[in-house]
Amino acid sequence: KDFPSYDEGLVRGEPGGFVLTPHYGENAEELYNFHIRPDDIWVLSFPKSGTTWTQELVWLIANDCDFEGAQKKLNDRSPFLEFPYLLPRPQDLSTVETQMKYRENLASPRIMKSHLPLDLLSPELGKTCKVVYVARNPKDVIVSYYYHHRLIKFHYFDGDLESFAHRFMQDQVFYSPYFGQILSAWERAKTEENVLFLFYEDLKKDLRGGIEKVAKFLGKSLSEDQLEKLVQHLTFENLSKNSAVNKEDGKTSGSFHEDGNFMRKGETGDWEKHFSPELSRKIDEWTELNLRGSDIIFVDKI
Ligand code: A3P
Repeated sequence: KDFPSYDEGLVRGEPGGFVLTPHYGENAEELYNFHIRPDDIWVLSFPKSGTTWTQELVWLIANDCDFEGAQKKLNDRSPFLEFPYLLPRPQDLSTVETQMKYRENLASPRIMKSHLPLDLLSPELGKTCKVVYVARNPKDVIVSYYYHHRLIKFHYFDGDLESFAHRFMQDQVFYSPYFGQILSAWERAKTEENVLFLFYEDLKKDLRGGIEKVAKFLGKSLSEDQLEKLVQHLTFENLSKNSAVNKEDGKTSGSFHEDGNFMRKGETGDWEKHFSPELSRKIDEWTELNLRGSDIIFVDKI
């Protein structure tokens, strides 16, 4: 049966712990033990931080700019590990099993996506295989995640942006707490050479530089022509029109509402058009409190 409300779809691991669906909770161990291959590349993030963008970038670099191969749906080329456990538990669990087998059997090099914090994934991640972690400033994530909640039918979310922002700060949304997972990835990237930490805002400011950084991390060299093609392919303008990546098929499959788009605006600083000065101040205070003792710096305007 569908979740009757957003809140009933959420479950918290322990007081103050990680928030996801009951179906995930029952299978957390299976995902923790998901078998890693040394040539895997995992793209990790808090939702709405530029994951899809980074997946496409990583996939193309890892596959030597195979633009033809990239016409296949990104979700199939780079599966979302825990997706089968995000939805309400189906009556027939064989679909979940089939989806998990697909993830296990995908040809190497697998480019996997997950929004789970590193602590809830195999300890091998970042040790025997590479991880690209992407983070985005909390204000733009809140706005983007709010629209995402309005877009996806199974979220059953009908609150306004202000109430969503408060929920977000109280860790009452899927994948909360936001800072928990970012800070642990940030710390791991400092000491582990197999963990690359990217900021959405840096990709916005200098996409070419971001591509070069990822290529170097993956040990790939790009010709000037490939680099230029990648930059063009990955602009918001082009990627939002690319049906293999833009997830517009969520509408035909009936999982998205008709109004709104997964590839919404692709900007930094859109939060300014959405938050009152009072709400913006509250988010700043919450951010400051959570970042005490950390040297990470978020940029929310470029
Ligand atoms: P907005 O809702 O602010 O537009 P994720 O893939 O982690 O769910 O992140 C989705 C966000 O990344 C959306 O943000 C989406 O528009 C943005 N995005 C996707 N491709 C992008 C690109 N090429 N350039 C900039 N932003 C992009």
